[in-house]
Amino acid sequence: MSNNNKVKIKLGPVQETMLIPLYFRAIEQKESMPIVNDEMAQNMVEQIDYDFSQLAKNLDGDGLAFPIRAATFDRLIVKFIKKNPEATIINLGAGLDTTFFRVDNGKIHWYDIDLEDSIELRRKFINETDRLKFITCSAFDPAWFKQIEHRDKGIFVMSSGMFIYFDHSDIETIISQMANEFPESELVFDTVSNFFRFRRFKTLGIKWGVWGTYTINRIKNTNMLGAFYYIDQYRDRWHAPIARYYPYYIKPLKMLTPAMYHLKLSAD
Ligand SMILES: C[S@@+](CC[C@H](N)C(=O)[O-])C[C@H]1O[C@@H](n2cnc3c(N)ncnc32)[C@H](O)[C@@H]1O
Repeated sequence: MSNNNKVKIKLGPVQETMLIPLYFRAIEQKESMPIVNDEMAQNMVEQIDYDFSQLAKNLDGDGLAFPIRAATFDRLIVKFIKKNPEATIINLGAGLDTTFFRVDNGKIHWYDIDLEDSIELRRKFINETDRLKFITCSAFDPAWFKQIEHRDKGIFVMSSGMFIYFDHSDIETIISQMANEFPESELVFDTVSNFFRFRRFKTLGIKWGVWGTYTINRIKNTNMLGAFYYIDQYRDRWHAPIARYYPYYIKPLKMLTPAMYHLKLSAD
């Protein structure tokens, strides 16, 4: 495809971050045993008019986190769907995420929520169906609650790579609101540690960092179902010394590293 035929993008700075996980899921397909199978990501990267090479430079070896995150979320969602085959999955800050296509069992209902320009770009590659709907709304505006139609067969909310761009109070508020709107639902999201945020990611505009489970356990209306640290997975593929050589058996050190958290939400 010549450059002229490629899809041009016009995205705000936070929205543009969707190209980062997309790119790292795409290049993962070159591995002999990809952590996540995502040919859709590879096709989208080929079709978008963007200099993806700069992302690799900026993120150094940390790009491995993105396929690991996708594979971890897939695993948790597949498990939830096995127990709740007609479940509803809500994806906050969907960007060009492709999870639906990897976990779909033909019965689930899925909602992708994002800002206007992001949904516009998403529509260039992915079509809505009866079971796959897009909602143009801020994840932090409870107006989207009204658009969730299928509520009684289990609800699972995922948010990958979005909470980090917001303040702790915004995140606490939306989690509490979701807990009251969708009691007994489950939520999975990722965030970085405060240590990482200060040291490494300040330039990427990341606002939210945590002190591991210490911070997450204090979020109202939630119970921890699991904490998944990136550096516990695919240790031989990490380049950063903290990942390769850190003594993983010293648990408190994990608080200094990014992780994904799986929570159960309960109403007040
Ligand atoms: C790093 S990208 C992650 C995209 C996708 N979840 C993935 O992992 O491939 C962050 C996403 O959050 C979206 N976003 C930013 N602010 C948002 C908001 N207030 N409400 C909904 N989505 C938002 C951006 O448009 C972007 O798609």
